This record gives sequence, C-alpha cells and structure tokens, in this order.
Amino acid sequence: MADLLLSVGQPLESVPESYIRPASQRPNFAAVEIDGNIPIVDLGSPDKSLIVAQVGQACQSYGFFQVVNHGISSELIQQMRAIGNEFFHLPAEEKLRLYSDDPAKKVRLSTSFNVKKETVHNWRDYLRLHCYPLEEYLSVWPSKPSAFREVVSKYCTEVRRLGFFLLGFISLSLGLEQDYIKEVLGEQEQHMAINYYPPCPEPELTYGLPSHTDPNALTILLQDPQVAGLQVLRAGKWIAVGPHPNAFVINLGDQLQALSNGKYRSVFHRAVVNSEKERLSVASFLCPCNSSVIAPAKQLTAEDSPAIYRSYTYDEYYKQFWARNLDQEHCLELFRI
Ligand code: OGA
Ligand code: NI
Repeated sequence: MADLLLSVGQPLESVPESYIRPASQRPNFAAVEIDGNIPIVDLGSPDKSLIVAQVGQACQSYGFFQVVNHGISSELIQQMRAIGNEFFHLPAEEKLRLYSDDPAKKVRLSTSFNVKKETVHNWRDYLRLHCYPLEEYLSVWPSKPSAFREVVSKYCTEVRRLGFFLLGFISLSLGLEQDYIKEVLGEQEQHMAINYYPPCPEPELTYGLPSHTDPNALTILLQDPQVAGLQVLRAGKWIAVGPHPNAFVINLGDQLQALSNGKYRSVFHRAVVNSEKERLSVASFLCPCNSSVIAPAKQLTAEDSPAIYRSYTYDEYYKQFWARNLDQEHCLELFRI
C-alpha cells in the first residue's frame, strides 16, 4: 500500500487509471468562477456587532468565509507552512514509517482519502494528526523535521483559540448565547490534516480532493500563499478561493448545519490540482466530543419550523462518515427526520 504515496519515488508522467474520474465527474476548469471570492471578515474591527453580522451573512449564504487580523502572527504561519513542506520532502524511509490507511489511527501519513474504501483515488498525500490534548499526542507526532513538534504545537494552540473565538461569533449570529455551541459540543477534539498536492501531469482528469463536506464542527484552513486549488460550490457554480497570504479560510462542518437546523450550511468544496506547482494546505478541524449529543438548537425551532434532523451522538455520525465514500451525498441527509 505504501507505494501509493505520491510524494515518494519519481514523479509520474501521466495519471494512472486508478486516479481518472469518469468524463462526467471531472473538474471542468472552464466553468469555474475565478474572481468571485468569498467574504473576508476583519476580526480586528472594534465593531463587534459588525463582525457578528458579517459572519452570519457569510455562514448563511456561503458556508465559508475568510478571516484577517485574526491574531495569529505571520511568522508562525510562515513557520507552519515551511515545516509542512519540509516534512513532505523528507527521505522516503522516514515517511514510509508513518504510513497507514487506517482512519482510526491518531497519527498517520496517508494518501488520497480512504484508500481501502474508495473506487477512484485522489492526487493528495496527507499527514493526519490528533492535536488535543497536546500532551497526549506530542510524543507520537513525527520527530522530523526537528522543529516539527515545537512549531506545530504552537500553531495548534493558536488555531484552537481562534476556532473558539469564531464559534462565539457564530453562536451570537444565530441569536444564541455566545457559549452555546462551545457548551453543546463538549471538550472538542482537534485534528489536523497537512495536505500535500504534488504537481499532476493531467489535472483535468482527477482531484486533489473531490467534492465533499467536512463532518466536524468548524474547519480552519491555511491555504498555500501562491498556489490556488480550493473551490467552493455556490448556487450550482464552483468558485475558486484565491490564495491570501495571511488569511484563514473558515468553513462550517456538518455539525453546525445540524445545530442551526439547516439555517447555516456545511457547503460542498473540493481541491483541484495543477501541472506546474506543488501545493500545501493545512486544515485544522474542531470536532465535537464523541459523546456529545447533536441536535438542532431548541431556540431555532418552532411549531412551523420543526427540527429537520434527529439527535445523534458525534460518535455515531463520524462512524457513518468514514463508512462512506467522500463524494457521496451529504452525510447529514442520513440523519434527516
Ligand atoms: C479538507 C479540505 C481543502 C484544501 O482537508 O477537508 O477541504 O484546499 N481541504 O486542501
Ligand atoms: Ni474539506
């Protein structure tokens, strides 16, 4: 299985059969909107009610927004990107030791999405780490590059703080108490995927990641500062999210769609690849505690707008998510009343 890693061995000259999508499911670059970027929210604004309004508007109409002046230094962002790139350029032996295709492992280097389940592979390698509580996982994280643990733990701590700060604004924008979401989701886990998309000889035939929604609560994505690849579905059209050097791209996961009773959406997105440049992205996922019970907030339901999703534990949801293929229907549909 380990020979599946794209970042090990010689670059391929064409896309192997197992990565090729049927003609009707390919990216169709010509139809993608290039400059219809998603909203940018300035978290440094002294006007908190403006931030709440902008966050609410973005969550409702895009399910995505970007944040600037978020308090995470450009130096740390730079270090995180550099360490991610260094990791994927380590010698093969070093990387192969970490290889696993078992989604239950808490530290693993893998490729595509769910190698054992999927029928078509994706042009992506990724390092997936559990990051909270840090003390529990730090000693099993990669020990190379030598600064990895120090840089990534600092980054994870700051991203967690930003995530909770944003959940506060999202709660308020739904008319809920600031701590509502935080409390419902319990002691949240934090996972990270450092995604590495090597140049692809035939990018029009395959994906880095096919269209999917994120199963967790909130995703905080650091894009490559130069190379575009993320695309978001809006009103039936794919919009490319251009790189922004110091912004984070925020998207709501399925759990916030459920909690908001469908008012906010966990939107389909995908990553495409290109033939010229490698691309690195760092996705941080805030994930509800496994035993937390997710249901539409009572304050958001009424006699004429009843709950549209049943309640379930996050554990149940997550198992369902990984049992499927990434590019199937919205996983939350399986929990609709
Ligand atoms: C993800 C994801 C997009 C990207 O990791 O869930 O959507 O641009 N990543 O890497
Ligand atoms: Ni995603």
